[in-house]
Amino acid sequence: MEQFLDRFNSDFEAIDGELGRSVESHPSLVREIASYALLGPGKRLRPLLFLLSSRLCGLDDRGIYRFSTVFELLHVASLLHDDVLDHAELRRKKPSVPQVWGNPAAVLGGDYLFSVATIIAAEIKNLEVIRLLSENMKEMVKGQLMELAHTHDWGITKKNYLEIITAKTASLMSSACAVGALMAGCGKSDVDRLGQFGLNLGIAFQLKDDVLDYTASEQEFGKPVGKDLREGKITLPLIYLISEKTGTEATDLQNFFRDRQPDDEDYLRLIALVREKGIIERIQREAEKYVDKAAGFLDVFPEGRSKQDLIGMGRYVVTRNH
Ligand code: FPP
Ligand code: MG
Repeated sequence: MEQFLDRFNSDFEAIDGELGRSVESHPSLVREIASYALLGPGKRLRPLLFLLSSRLCGLDDRGIYRFSTVFELLHVASLLHDDVLDHAELRRKKPSVPQVWGNPAAVLGGDYLFSVATIIAAEIKNLEVIRLLSENMKEMVKGQLMELAHTHDWGITKKNYLEIITAKTASLMSSACAVGALMAGCGKSDVDRLGQFGLNLGIAFQLKDDVLDYTASEQEFGKPVGKDLREGKITLPLIYLISEKTGTEATDLQNFFRDRQPDDEDYLRLIALVREKGIIERIQREAEKYVDKAAGFLDVFPEGRSKQDLIGMGRYVVTRNH
């Protein structure tokens, strides 16, 4: 499935060229942090979703590569902040920006990339695009705040969890697709359909990400396994495990993690419990359902390469191993 992304190599080259240009003329510390965080590893899924959606709607112009960087810039800006919030040591298989330059530089680096994204977004002079992107930023921050409120909350429900991942992750994928349609001149219903496609694909993406936290190897995933648990994030695999336990078992488990400083063994035991219960397979199936739902929103669009590529993106996000 990794080869699936290879078909977009020429797009990735053009996106990376524009990303490089977007940060080349800035003060040296910014350039250093920005190139470290932006260039190199990274799947560029959000710019690609934007490109494919605009192509599906008939826009195929080299000029849109520059605009596509808005989605990577916003994504990486959010990751710089996220790595501060999560005390993350690794990102994209490298030490995180806060780890290398410290929290203040990571926060300011994120603010800087966010500002560069808004400048590029404003170039096309389309207020509806700016409104959509601003709504999206509000959603992402809301998602992070909800996640913060539920840190170490063993009572978190699946509904809470889905709200969080929709806001923090799926909203950006949704706007990448919706803005692609908007810029191609599509009407509201097609813009909404592509927005829904991106939203459902984004939910599937985060479900898979949260499963990988229980199943992947650090080498492949590029971040430590069990990281969510250690950060106090109760994601769907654990929510299902808690719901399968009887009242006292669930409380015992919760008390165990609350009353002591859990060590590696404790985390590995919990991960093993989740793996034994068929929970991983259950969430994998749910993620696939979201991808099918996403594909359904493309039904009205003409058959062709762009539609097949978008459907392929859906398959890719749920079959990837990192
Ligand atoms: C990663 O989630 C984080 C996000 C998807 C969103 C982060 C959003 C903000 C910090 C809001 C501020 C936004 C901007 C543009 C400045 P995760 O921690 O579950 O994933 P990870 O395991 O990859 O860290
Ligand atoms: Mg994080």
